[in-house]
Amino acid sequence: MKLLIATQNAGKIRELEAILAPLGVTLSTPEEFLEVPEAIEDGETFEENALKKARHWFMATGLPTLADDSGLMVDALDGEPGVRSARYAPTVEERNAKLLAALEGILPERRTARFVCVAVFIRGHGDEVIRRGTCEGRIHSEPRGDGGFGYDPIFWVEGHGCTMAELPAQVKNQISHRARALAALQPDLIEWVKTSRRG
Ligand code: IMP
Repeated sequence: MKLLIATQNAGKIRELEAILAPLGVTLSTPEEFLEVPEAIEDGETFEENALKKARHWFMATGLPTLADDSGLMVDALDGEPGVRSARYAPTVEERNAKLLAALEGILPERRTARFVCVAVFIRGHGDEVIRRGTCEGRIHSEPRGDGGFGYDPIFWVEGHGCTMAELPAQVKNQISHRARALAALQPDLIEWVKTSRRG
């Protein structure tokens, strides 16, 4: 029983593998399908982009597919970088530096932000499930920690007293936006596993 996780982001793949391990299914990634071009992510919302990715990879491989579109929404920047989180600047370090510069001089209480993840699971033609998860925090004054990926070093996690990059991976994988979107998808994933085993 195979499930394709439709992402090339190594950080996401690591997290999805850990979160999905209890399902006991074989995970495939786009690396196994080098002939398939990347999905075009030109939607204006996380939902649109997650659906585009999931449909693209499901159509190309025929495998049950799980895709996520995620990003960081900063209140003081009207929700930016949002769906453009991966393209906000060329490298991870430049993205974090650009965000810190954009918030220069803004007091901690006005630096509220959230990670958002929309996960889409396609079991078969027309059989699509969409779930959303969020994780609240603030943009810290400087990068801290080396766990996780992306904006984690500058994201101060509400109620944990540290940045996302300072949390152990097991903790991030319980409280993150991705973990929450997948927790909401879990009944559908379990149902799919049961049905496939019976068949
Ligand atoms: P996507 O691959 O188009 O969904 O882009 C997601 C982008 O949002 C990533 O490249 C990161 O910049 C950011 N992002 C999403 N989830 C996380 C996370 O868990 N930690 C840090 N950054 C994240």
